[in-house]
Amino acid sequence: MAQLLATYTNGRANIVIVGRNQAAADRIVASFPEPPYPNETNSITVKHEFIQCDVSFISNVRVAVEEIKKRYSKINMLVCSAGALAMSQKITTEGLDESHVLRTYARTKFIYELQPLLSNDRAAGEDARAMIILNAATSNKVDLEDLDIKKFSMISVNKTTASYNDVFVKVMGERHPDLAFIHIFPGGTDMPGLHKTWYLSLAATLAKPLLRRLEDAASSMLYPLLHPYYSQGGFWLTKDADKLTLGNSINDKVTEKVWDHIVSRAQLE
Ligand SMILES: NC(=O)c1ccc[n+]([C@@H]2O[C@H](COP(=O)([O-])OP(=O)(O)OC[C@H]3O[C@@H](n4cnc5c(N)ncnc54)[C@H](OP(=O)(O)O)[C@@H]3O)[C@@H](O)[C@H]2O)c1
Repeated sequence: MAQLLATYTNGRANIVIVGRNQAAADRIVASFPEPPYPNETNSITVKHEFIQCDVSFISNVRVAVEEIKKRYSKINMLVCSAGALAMSQKITTEGLDESHVLRTYARTKFIYELQPLLSNDRAAGEDARAMIILNAATSNKVDLEDLDIKKFSMISVNKTTASYNDVFVKVMGERHPDLAFIHIFPGGTDMPGLHKTWYLSLAATLAKPLLRRLEDAASSMLYPLLHPYYSQGGFWLTKDADKLTLGNSINDKVTEKVWDHIVSRAQLE
């Protein structure tokens, strides 16, 4: 998505990649078209930067957020995609399940803490959108007695964490109706994450004809970040950016309990 955006803008967009893998970010940034600035008539400097952050720790996310706030006063597009399928339980030194941090708490913390920069952008008359790439509006029933999802099963963890992101988008969309909060499903896409274990890799290889190419998934997900239709409110989208609605499973009680859970675990301030 960063490469596509850099190409569409001919290198003239400030793009910050936040992640743990400097080498991968360097490769991506090196592929961006060289911005035409600064030149003799224009002194604008375009920034293509990397901020190091292992997002499996809330404390790291806090540091990265502060770093972003130091460097920028406003943000047009904030995209959170780091993470993978939750395959097992692994408790971090912060006492949280790593996959829950990756799939819910880190993303929600980035967006919640950086919302003032999105609002600054909107106040300057520009578009301001935040996007979570996961699995929108699955109509999953949330177990309110087990919000930490201690009863592990791959299906329950993956679906429930996706629902937590649905709730987050709902509440943020209601609180900040002038901004856009988007939760989108990327579709089955042939990505490195699908080759981390031999059995997933085998499945991905067999399913290859059915999987999306990375470029196609990237352009479908960039579309709702650029099209005026998606500029305000909460959106839950299919892989083709078609609108979904939240089912009855995300009712007022679920919304309140899940929101409080996210605030507590992601230490939203
Ligand atoms: N691909 C699909 O078919 C598919 C389908 C539905 C939903 N999704 C969801 O969409 C999201 C993106 O999927 P993807 O296919 O792009 O996955 P991917 O190929 O595994 O990429 C995940 C990205 O997250 C980064 N990452 C992982 N752990 C991190 C950490 N602790 N700190 C910082 N960065 C970290 C990885 O970077 P490094 O490992 O290089 O550091 C990688 O760039 C995931 O949440 C996935 O569950 C994907």
